[in-house]
Formats: sequence, structure tokens, C-alpha cells
Amino acid sequence: MPRLDKILANYQFGSRNDVKKLIKNKQVKVNDELILKDNYIVEENDFISVDSFKFKYHEFVTIMMNKQKNRICTHDSNDITIYDDLDLIYPSNLSSIGRLDKDTTGLIILTNDGQLNHKITSKNNNSIKRYLVTLSKAYQQEPLVNIDLGADGIVSAKTIEVIDEYKIIIGITDGKYHQIKRMIHSIDNDVKELHRLSIGSLKLDESLMFGQSRPMTQEEVGLLYG
Ligand code: URA
Repeated sequence: MPRLDKILANYQFGSRNDVKKLIKNKQVKVNDELILKDNYIVEENDFISVDSFKFKYHEFVTIMMNKQKNRICTHDSNDITIYDDLDLIYPSNLSSIGRLDKDTTGLIILTNDGQLNHKITSKNNNSIKRYLVTLSKAYQQEPLVNIDLGADGIVSAKTIEVIDEYKIIIGITDGKYHQIKRMIHSIDNDVKELHRLSIGSLKLDESLMFGQSRPMTQEEVGLLYG
């Protein structure tokens, strides 16, 4: 069971020593009760407050983000990352489930639930990821099947929806490096914009602006497990 000081440090209130001081200085409450023990055991759904900042504790946090352009999906970089777009109420041990290219926008899921992350990224996950692709040349109804990506194998679009001449929605199950861009290159075309709309039956919440995120509901997480 998680200790209060560990949780506060993970939620980025400071180092283990900093948060021990917050507790000693009577700045921390759990369910509106002042807590003075740093090894106090926090339960799922307890409300933790630090001064006037209050949040509900959950062991697993899973959020969806509408990724904006010019953000990379790794933690350890000098570049601007998707994690820079999160506000501070999230724990620091979130990781993205898979990655999108720096210039790709749309649905990305972040979680500290290792089992969920593994399930979605594992090889036998057949969920279709749908991408809205803006092309630089008109789409000529090419089927996008059996495309040879060299060492990454042969890939095919599982679904294609034509929006207009320059916009199509492609569904793929695998997630090879630059997969959609390489598939589009193979038909002598280029990707101008790439935006992920859905993963399996989970759709991006369209009310999220680029760079915004929100916790996923239990039903939404269930869709991923479904
Ligand atoms: N395919 C790509 O080429 N880039 C992405 O970011 C995702 C899929």
C-alpha cells in the first residue's frame, strides 16, 4: 500500500525530503484530516490536499491527450515532450502507450498501469488505429495492401475511408516506425498532416484542444481492455 510521502513525491510536490517537510509543517491533509506521519497509508479514492490544492488518489491513472505538433513522446530528451503539456495534478510515472511522430497530432494515451500499456502494445493486439491523413497529391483509390517495409515486413491498411481527394482515414493494426508515412510514400504520395482519431473503439474526445488532456473514464479504459 502506498505511503503518503511516496505519493506526494510521485505527484511532483518535491523530493522525498521536501514532501516530508510539507507533512511536518502541517500542510498536508487526507480526507480533510491533518496527517503528520509521512508513512501514512493512503487508500484508493482518498482525497489528498496540500495547502489549498486537493486531488483524489488513484493507484492507476490513465489519461487521453490530443497531442499537438512539435512534441516528442519520450521522457528523456532535451526536446519539448508531450509530458510538458500535462498540468501538475498527474503523477510523474506516466508513460505513453506507443508513440506518435513529432509532427503527428491526435489521440495518445498515457498511463502508469504497466499491464494496460503492455496489453495495448503487445504484438497480438489487433485493435485498429485510425489516422486522418492529409495528402499532398490527390488519392487515386490505391488499395494500400501488401506494402513491403523491408525489415519491418509486409503491411496493409485494414480500412480506408475516403473523405475527399486529399483526405483519407487509414486504419492499421500494426505500428511500425513511420508506418503511415512509408505506406503513403509507396504510392508515390506524401503525408502533409497526420492525426490519430482512435485506438480500437476508443475515440479521441473532440472537445480536447491540441495539447490538452483529461483522465479517461472507467468505461473508456474498459474499451481498451475490451
Ligand atoms: N504512422 C506514422 O507515419 N507516424 C505516426 O506518428 C503514426 C503512424
